[in-house]
Amino acid sequence: MAGSTLEIKDLHVEIEGQEILKGVNLTINGGEFHAVMGPNGTGKSTLASAIMGHPKYEVTKGEVLLDGENVLEMEVDERAQAGLFLAMQYPSEISGVTNSDFLRSSINAHREEGDEISLMKFIKDMDAKMDTLDMDKNMAQRYLNEGFSGGEKKRNEILQLMMIEPAIAILDEIDSGLDIDALKVVAQGINEMRNDSFGCLIITHYQRLLNYITPDKVHVMMQGRVVKSGGPELSQRLEAEGYDWIKQELGIEDETVNA
Ligand SMILES: Nc1ncnc2c1ncn2[C@@H]1O[C@H](COP(=O)(O)OP(=O)(O)OP(=O)(O)O)[C@@H](O)[C@H]1O
Ligand SMILES: [Mg+2]
Repeated sequence: MAGSTLEIKDLHVEIEGQEILKGVNLTINGGEFHAVMGPNGTGKSTLASAIMGHPKYEVTKGEVLLDGENVLEMEVDERAQAGLFLAMQYPSEISGVTNSDFLRSSINAHREEGDEISLMKFIKDMDAKMDTLDMDKNMAQRYLNEGFSGGEKKRNEILQLMMIEPAIAILDEIDSGLDIDALKVVAQGINEMRNDSFGCLIITHYQRLLNYITPDKVHVMMQGRVVKSGGPELSQRLEAEGYDWIKQELGIEDETVNA
């Protein structure tokens, strides 16, 4: 199967009447890994939430197309079924639902009725992937994210990603809170997924993740827009020099979207 294409075109998003995204353009072609960087509060998580259909985020203009289909017209669960996946910056805790049950129903939600994954296969797959991610097997039976440490939540997001195998994943600060070894383990899990039918948008602040996962393209967001795009050398320059040179290049005084 050829990979899916995600096209974000002139996306404008408001939160409670305030415009946060002011015309984001970005295209991920099948199998590509893109990184999005940018100062705090410039709209990176807003972009992720708006694409996934969080009700607080109102799209006032623009389009998000997955293989030409308008994602913005889909219900939230339809977006996931169409192949989109979001690993959130702050994953929520769901008491009363075990991690394993959540994963199994997420996988089955992507399958036709009657074609559900067998319990045996599910457990075998989950065990193998938990091994890759160096996760304690007890995590499977705990309530989803409840009491998980910051790093355990992040690993668990990648476990979901590896089990669900979406067409396009948006990973919001998947490296935050990970210890040095866990960073490598998580990066290895994401790299294992690299193939022509999996595209990824990696939101991160740090080069350390991109040392392990080499992006095809790097984008910088400021003031609710993608203001610069380049190859891996762009994130290396940001790591060395920060954002001031881009602000100067663009004549931006203040990086906040509220300016
Ligand atoms: N639910 C919300 N209610 C009110 N304001 C919000 C909400 N979500 C985001 N904002 C505001 O929108 C702006 C962009 O926030 P966003 O979380 O997208 O930034 P970010 O680029 O992901 O920053 P960071 O690097 O710190 O994660 C911020 O000024 C934030 O306060
Ligand atoms: Mg964020």
